[in-house]
Amino acid sequence: MAARVENAVLPKDFIWGFATASYQIEGAANEGGRGPSIWDTFSHTPTKTADGKTGDVACDSYHRWREDIALLKQYGAQAYRFSISWSRVIPLGGRNDPINEEGIQFYVDFVNALLEAGITPFVTLFHWDLPQALHDRYLGLLNKDEFVADFVRYATLLFDRLPMVKNWITFNEPWCSAVLGYNVGLHAPGRCSDRTKSPQGGDSTREHLIAGHSLLVAHGHTVKVYRDKYKEKAGGEIGITLNGDWMDPWDPEDPRDVEAAERKLEFSIAWFADPIYFGDYPASMRKQLGERLPTFTEEEVKLVKGSNDFYGMNHYTANYVKHKDTPPDDDDHLGNVETSFYNKAGDCVGPETQSVWLRPSPVGFRNLLNWLSKRYNYPKIYVTENGTSLKNENDIPLPDVLNDEFRAEYFRGYINALARAHNEDGVNVMAYLAWSFMDNFEWAEGYETRFGVTYVDYEDNQKRYPKLSSKVVREEFERLIKKD
Ligand code: NOJ
Repeated sequence: MAARVENAVLPKDFIWGFATASYQIEGAANEGGRGPSIWDTFSHTPTKTADGKTGDVACDSYHRWREDIALLKQYGAQAYRFSISWSRVIPLGGRNDPINEEGIQFYVDFVNALLEAGITPFVTLFHWDLPQALHDRYLGLLNKDEFVADFVRYATLLFDRLPMVKNWITFNEPWCSAVLGYNVGLHAPGRCSDRTKSPQGGDSTREHLIAGHSLLVAHGHTVKVYRDKYKEKAGGEIGITLNGDWMDPWDPEDPRDVEAAERKLEFSIAWFADPIYFGDYPASMRKQLGERLPTFTEEEVKLVKGSNDFYGMNHYTANYVKHKDTPPDDDDHLGNVETSFYNKAGDCVGPETQSVWLRPSPVGFRNLLNWLSKRYNYPKIYVTENGTSLKNENDIPLPDVLNDEFRAEYFRGYINALARAHNEDGVNVMAYLAWSFMDNFEWAEGYETRFGVTYVDYEDNQKRYPKLSSKVVREEFERLIKKD
């Protein structure tokens, strides 16, 4: 673990809090005029979620949001990141479709109540729950022009109706939308462009690359609208949130492994960040994927390049990467490397995590903060997600689950690594939002994985119970942030 930082080293305006997303917590899937999203369809399809469950009820935050805000306040949170359900505000999603005023009012009331409680809202516009109607009409992300036009209209509606929001995130983890949703089929809409499984060939083998391109172009257009018309008046900021683990070469003495680790960072992070900071995809991706990777038009380059006011960073773990001696295979999204999660002998202490990608590596976090800072010239970074989950938390008795020392220690390690990166490495990280405010619907994992600093009892009316980790996040930041 990274050593504890003793002094208050984070600036006074550093902001911390917790994060969630609409489909994972809201429930009320058929209430308040909400239309279905691709995640309703997907989770209702047999075998798609580990426990066969859906987000129909989830944490029932649609009804219990006042209680949620009171709890956030009790935790001392300065900020709360949540997402808006597109199909709650425009049930059919499209630019000519009717607006659901009841849905908009829900978010207006919610944001106003957060502000009254002194909590800064960080609003994600798209956290994977595409309106089903847009998928049915034109295959959603696979139709760039239609998707961009519909998304920009949806975003504009929210910029208009929520002028009090100052922190906007366009897209959450486009890598996951693209690869999990269109390449390996593990997430909605469950399409599979893996060449071995898509024998029809043609564009069907590059759907993830097309989806990724649409997301980047939609981000660029949306940021332009925000900057042209809303930013100055609101005094606000807009950016995108990218996921990314740290990658260590398996053998740091082997230049082929060193290169493979870098390539893997490029295929996961720079795929989206390079176009935003440099105006084009990384050379390593172009080299391997050739014309399968879309090309930006001149107009798109202008829109996408420079389109981040901040870099939204979702981060969980570190991996080891080995080079491969064979030519690139069908796993294009991996960058032709072998990855193993953070488990070299001696690296991984403590109990087993629910997924291999939740093993703690605070030093990996610090390394990645530095890698991003150097590559993209020290952008302002907001950590928009970070957290972990123990194996089989569902089977642990309640008192032990609430005494979540493992998660608390994970947060201590990562928060101190962040403080060091800020203080000693000059990394411009200015916000930290822990994942998650409460246990919730973990996508294809259903309710088997618990990430919350709040326990949610799904058997007893979604009752909430604070875990130890909710206090530890607060303790660390209150110690580390300067008072004046
Ligand atoms: C990634 C996603 O943004 C979030 O929705 C998910 O629950 C967490 N990280 C944990 O997997």
